[in-house]
Amino acid sequence: MEVVRVENLTKIYGKGDAQTAALVDANLSVQRGELVALLGPSGSGKTTLLTSICCINEPSRGRIELDGTLVYDDGWTGIDVRALRRQKMGVIFQAYNLIPFLTVLENVELILTLNQVGRQESQERAMELLDYLEIAHRWHHYPSEISGGEQQRVAIARALANNPTVLLADEPTAALDTERGKIVMGLLRKLSREKEAAVIVVTHDLRMVEGFDRVYRIADGRIQN
Ligand SMILES: Nc1ncnc2c1ncn2[C@@H]1O[C@H](COP(=O)(O)OP(=O)(O)OP(=O)(O)O)[C@@H](O)[C@H]1O
Ligand SMILES: [Mg+2]
Repeated sequence: MEVVRVENLTKIYGKGDAQTAALVDANLSVQRGELVALLGPSGSGKTTLLTSICCINEPSRGRIELDGTLVYDDGWTGIDVRALRRQKMGVIFQAYNLIPFLTVLENVELILTLNQVGRQESQERAMELLDYLEIAHRWHHYPSEISGGEQQRVAIARALANNPTVLLADEPTAALDTERGKIVMGLLRKLSREKEAAVIVVTHDLRMVEGFDRVYRIADGRIQN
């Protein structure tokens, strides 16, 4: 079953002379249980595509369908994208976007609380993920008190907390050493296999692409299908 469908998606930033065509007629389709890489050089439109799919960046034209719901059709379709994101999506951004005044544990728990999961259960689930990512011992620290790689792992735990149907990860291993990078890739594979999630991982590192079901290549905003 198709979970992410992107058709002829175009994004032009800016106006007049300052225009940048970041995405040009991009097409992409990801099925349940698929682990897909999006590979391309810096500035090729990878982040623009991901932020468009998670509905925080307005495209210029095209279509986006998520889990059977049309969310963008030359304009937002008016469905509640925040609820959709909260219930079905996990996102790991290039900048980790942790909430600075919440602890590591609270950052991971938040999405569960918003989804009405009880306190004990959300705490257990959050600690389990933190433990798996070898960051549980930092649970009571604030993001500013931990390293970049540690923040990245907290962001990954947070994105996995609601068992998303769609997981979008923007260079999730960029700040990690090889061993921890492998652990993270293993987690993403597990999510796609066991939870049948559609997982899209952005990378510009060719060495990372082994182990993916498929690879989309993007250059100058164009996906080579
Ligand atoms: N908010 C913005 N306003 C104007 N131009 C932008 C904006 N965001 C991105 N761009 C431009 O759009 C193009 C695609 O950017 P994008 O961030 O999607 O690339 P990327 O593939 O994620 O690159 P990187 O690997 O460096 O993260 C680039 O030319 C970039 O300069
Ligand atoms: Mg980017």
